[in-house]
Amino acid sequence: MEEHVLAAVERATTRPSEHYDTITVTPISPVIGAEVSGLDLATELSDTQLAEVRRAFLAHHVLVFRDQVLSAEDHKRFAGHFGELRRQPLADLDGGDPAILEISADRESRFVAGEDWHTDGTAEAEPSLGSMLYVTRTPEIGVGGDTLWANMHLAYEMLSAPMRAFLDGLTAIHDGLIPWQGHTPPPEYVVPRSEHPVVVRHPETGRRLLFVNAGFTSHIVQLSRHESRALLDMLFGWVAGQPILSCRVRWTPNTLVFWDNRCTQHHAVWDYYPHSRYGQRVTINGSRPVG
Ligand code: SIN
Repeated sequence: MEEHVLAAVERATTRPSEHYDTITVTPISPVIGAEVSGLDLATELSDTQLAEVRRAFLAHHVLVFRDQVLSAEDHKRFAGHFGELRRQPLADLDGGDPAILEISADRESRFVAGEDWHTDGTAEAEPSLGSMLYVTRTPEIGVGGDTLWANMHLAYEMLSAPMRAFLDGLTAIHDGLIPWQGHTPPPEYVVPRSEHPVVVRHPETGRRLLFVNAGFTSHIVQLSRHESRALLDMLFGWVAGQPILSCRVRWTPNTLVFWDNRCTQHHAVWDYYPHSRYGQRVTINGSRPVG
């Protein structure tokens, strides 16, 4: 790795020591993700427990809670501590709980949710703060169906200084039709489309991050079509091709993962066909990204 990349990694991995009284937080990679134990999410958590979860969330971006037996109400109550729950755009169509998105794959599936690197819902004017995915059934074969999360602060910080300076002034269009390529969205679906800065600041920590993703970003407004395509392909490849940016969560039944959608991308690995996997996702409203 080049010197500026090594320096960025060293800065990101040299963190102040963390101390928690009510939970145990064990990192799963040097730069993103931690397992949290000591909590039963089916019970009402104390203010101190919630404050410590919040602190761990901002420090690690992805939190993994294992061996949780949760009802839909428990799941929504825990998520509700972090903000208002998002109504899923197509929930009315299947008649289910509007706050819960089913993430399900089996022998009949021809695609699965989130199987390419993406940040959820960036075509919205106010993309989500984060999501909590509760997986209750993992592939019968015993392996597969992991999810990867990448740290988009570090993705930005590992770029060279001239590239960071160039990106800083740009904006990009995020188009809700991109995930539907090859499929027809239901007629009721109002396709979102938004313009966001290419580099934004995390609303709570102020730390900068790269805010374009292959799942939704169509083009960079200030560049020609060819320039935009080349730059976006380079940035998408940067995220997918740098393992140091990401952690990998191996699901076990009854695991809940809470991720910060404001500074991460994720990729659900569909390597378990024809086996099945099932989970439910609750999403928390966010705010407009600001550069
Ligand atoms: C998603 O929310 O994109 C799906 C993640 C997963 O199934 O692991």
